Amino acid sequence: MADQPDDHSTAPGGLENLLVEERRFPPDPAFAAQANAQPEMYERADADRLGFWADQARSLLSWSTEFTEVLDFSQAPRARWFADGRLNAAYNAVDRHVEAGHGDRVAIHWEGEQGEVRTLTYADLQREVAKAANTLGDLGVTTGDRVAIYLPMIPEAVIAMLACARIGAPHSVVFGGFSAEALYSRIVDAEARLVITADGGYRRGSASALKPAVDEALTKGETPVEHVLVVRRTGQEVGWTPGRDVWWHESVDAASAEHEPVPVEAEHPLFILYTSGTTGRPKGILHTTGGYLAQAAFTHLNVFDLKPETDVYWCTADVGWVTGHTYVAYGPLLNGATQVMYEGTPDTPHRGRWWEIIEKYGVTILYTAPTAIRTCMKWGEEHPAKYDLSSLRVLGSVGEPINPEAWMWYRRVIGGDRAPVVDTWWQTETGAIMISPLPGVTAAKPGSAQTPLPGIAADVVDEAGEPVPDGAGGYLVLAEPWPAMLRGIWGDEQRFRDTYWSRFPGKYFAGDGAKKDDDGDIWLLGRVDDVMNVSGHRLSTTEIESALVSHPSVAEAAVVGASDDTTGQAVVAFVILRGEAAEKAAAEGGDTAATVAELRAHVAREIGPIAKPRSILVVAELPKTRSGKIMRRLLRDVAENRTVGDVTTLADSSVMNLISAGLHTPK
Ligand code: WT7
Repeated sequence: MADQPDDHSTAPGGLENLLVEERRFPPDPAFAAQANAQPEMYERADADRLGFWADQARSLLSWSTEFTEVLDFSQAPRARWFADGRLNAAYNAVDRHVEAGHGDRVAIHWEGEQGEVRTLTYADLQREVAKAANTLGDLGVTTGDRVAIYLPMIPEAVIAMLACARIGAPHSVVFGGFSAEALYSRIVDAEARLVITADGGYRRGSASALKPAVDEALTKGETPVEHVLVVRRTGQEVGWTPGRDVWWHESVDAASAEHEPVPVEAEHPLFILYTSGTTGRPKGILHTTGGYLAQAAFTHLNVFDLKPETDVYWCTADVGWVTGHTYVAYGPLLNGATQVMYEGTPDTPHRGRWWEIIEKYGVTILYTAPTAIRTCMKWGEEHPAKYDLSSLRVLGSVGEPINPEAWMWYRRVIGGDRAPVVDTWWQTETGAIMISPLPGVTAAKPGSAQTPLPGIAADVVDEAGEPVPDGAGGYLVLAEPWPAMLRGIWGDEQRFRDTYWSRFPGKYFAGDGAKKDDDGDIWLLGRVDDVMNVSGHRLSTTEIESALVSHPSVAEAAVVGASDDTTGQAVVAFVILRGEAAEKAAAEGGDTAATVAELRAHVAREIGPIAKPRSILVVAELPKTRSGKIMRRLLRDVAENRTVGDVTTLADSSVMNLISAGLHTPK
């Protein structure tokens, strides 16, 4: 079955020492006294899980039609939450705060990479979203139509998402770092009618174009796209297709600021977001409105202890990932928060850029990824030391397991040994945070996500699906439906069932290995399938292998995720060459450097720069079982410079000697 874990995969090495971690950080009493989260929440949710979620949905959201049903799981694994209620996501994120008298509150402090500043209050945001919604209507987009969004980190990204939500048009945000090919396949899969993009954005100190990728994507084949709405950000030259292309500043700026949000059913699709599975084809994860918003608001309020009147919240994720959906676009705005949005990279123009932003805006809550923390550790404490970070009071981590040393550094250097760290486990599929300490409640353990949130039934099970005892390891599952759960894979019901629900009947299989410690706290141990996690971004080994073999020089390819000190895992590819490239490599003193460089560039073109292998090794053979399955475990040993493990199931056990020997042959 397509997305089943493969039997020869193991959790990434180097994490065993996690379980000897003994440090504990009990909540500071002063923090606990003012915390949003309360220990009683667990009891309340345990006693009446559905009642607990119904309370959250009622108290944190405004419904145009109140719901009376909480959960319908009779068609499992299809769940319907709050299904007879109606609401509008954009109204909840924006308008109601203006109506409540908070129109002057800053919603977004936007900071461009070059230091430009834009400040949008909730009233500003309401006006901009309404205008953009009117423009979408003028461009023929109606309730139910899909809109692809391919934008840099500028306020228009959030405005565009909310404008779609305002008319009930599901958005499909495609990360700006993805290639034209990736954009094309996502446009086609979701049958998007409109693409919203920009001329470009600023990355690492220069303007990087986006519009050409859209133009190229739309020439790759037939698409349902009628219009391309283009934000002018960098002012660079763009190709223009008259009749199809429309400038944002001409259409949106001229549109009326009066727009009635369209109330939709709670189960109306809010967005599709593509993520990597274990096959080459990305999955369009479908999220709907009511349940997603309820859990987004609840988790954002309690996991980050948000106080909307006084906090300045900053999540560093790009809106192209689920973290940017739930904790930039929806969660904070639903809760009426003031947030920072930053366009660029952490080291442009200098390595203190993030800390400078925290000082400048008095950021109180920071949510980022372990890979970023480890990068900052590498750059050195002197960079954060130059800035006043005393405003910070909660620190969040997401995307991959955070090793205890990075956790400790985050707490000490960034959090002044004072701010609680919350390690939040969740996935594109879960929609919102599922496992995390609650600040002010949980005694934190460096490196562990610890506890399922109130109302969440996470567990670790063995091969047979039975919960493991404390102190043992297995697979992470979700034993009960949750409000923000995915409602399916766009256009592929069977894959939805096979991937998540067939391994342990009745339970959602997350794809992660995990252990319970002696206190029953959960430690995540990485993926157990062919999904890699590079800098907190999900990549599929198979997808990169397909990209490699689509190159004329490649006969066969195998890709593994090798552990990497900074990025968690790194992409390492093994390729067998063919044709001229193979002859050149085999010739006396054969040099593969040019081929390798070309293949890395090819992967970047096919998928995006994030998928570019860290290294590509040219080999004569790949290790295969007698049934022809590539043994990635052995390749991972090579990639991680370990002694190669058990080779007895190989069809030809000498292959590994060849590969290992090849590594040491100077090229
Ligand atoms: C995979 C999901 C959730 C937003 C970002 C990633 C890994 C995520 C943690 C964590 C250990 C984590 C898992 C998961 N992961 N957070 N706190 N500790 N692992 O979303 O791209 O859907 O990836 O990221 O392996 O399955 P995603």
